[in-house]
Amino acid sequence: MANTTNTIKHVASPLARQTLLDSELTDPVAGKRPIRLLPWLQVVKIGGRSIMDRGRDAILPIVDEIRKLLPEHRLLILTGAGIRARHVYGVGLDLGLPVGSLAPLAATEAGQNGHILASLLAPESVSYVEHPTIANQLAIHLSAARAVVGSAFPPYHHHEFPGSRIPPHRADTGAFLLADALGAAGLTIIEDVDGVYTADPNGPDGKKAQLLRETSAADLAKFKGTLPVDRAFVEVIATARHIEHVQVVNGLVPGRLTAALRGEHVGTIIHTGARQV
Ligand SMILES: Nc1ncnc2c1ncn2[C@@H]1O[C@H](COP(=O)(O)OP(=O)(O)OP(=O)(O)O)[C@@H](O)[C@H]1O
Ligand SMILES: [Mg+2]
Repeated sequence: MANTTNTIKHVASPLARQTLLDSELTDPVAGKRPIRLLPWLQVVKIGGRSIMDRGRDAILPIVDEIRKLLPEHRLLILTGAGIRARHVYGVGLDLGLPVGSLAPLAATEAGQNGHILASLLAPESVSYVEHPTIANQLAIHLSAARAVVGSAFPPYHHHEFPGSRIPPHRADTGAFLLADALGAAGLTIIEDVDGVYTADPNGPDGKKAQLLRETSAADLAKFKGTLPVDRAFVEVIATARHIEHVQVVNGLVPGRLTAALRGEHVGTIIHTGARQV
């Protein structure tokens, strides 16, 4: 009887009575690779500015391509924010709003773009789902439909890090965090350029810009110029657990997404830090 009482009061845990700040104590328990929740899932992030803002000319061919891919892959399609978020940042910054107030405002545009895309794919049983559903019920949704659409923006919202006035964790970071947490088979980022270049191909030095066929989290961390992905994305991929590489492809070229999901090298492959884990 006394033993039963003790077991109830003293719950056995390998982390009991330890500080969680001592890595020597936590590593034996927390240092293992996590399980893959959805190892068959392909995550596709669609650019808000690069694709969605272009309207039907860019969106309809991608929708058509996704439709044809559905028998082959089960997809989580995540949309970024575009011009409306840029506008809301401008108004909010002018009014002095803090970064934690701006983040959810911009995130609503990523959601709007997701709703647009899901509406176009509705005949294929694709629907838009909110983050709590992605977190808890994605498996059941993907057993009812071949794909679902969600917002790529991570819900840091009022917890957004205060280092910069523009929210640092945006759509690329959010898409990567989800893909890695789910242990997905892959993440493809769709842009309006062929991949990551040595300089912005649409900028003043665009003519000299060269496409990087392959790069890594470490190389991008040292990269001084602009990138077509969030800076925070470069930081989080360095500590990836599952996703070993991300491919950035041009969604304006028909067939690139299809090829990327089939494992072909058709854009820039960014190696994450997952291989070293
Ligand atoms: N080093 C670079 N390599 C390739 N493109 C670059 C580079 N630097 C800047 N760019 C620019 O980034 C643009 C894409 O912009 P951005 O990544 O903001 O759009 P998006 O991905 O659609 O937006 P969001 O992340 O909100 O969904 C490209 O059209 C290109 O001009
Ligand atoms: Mg981008």
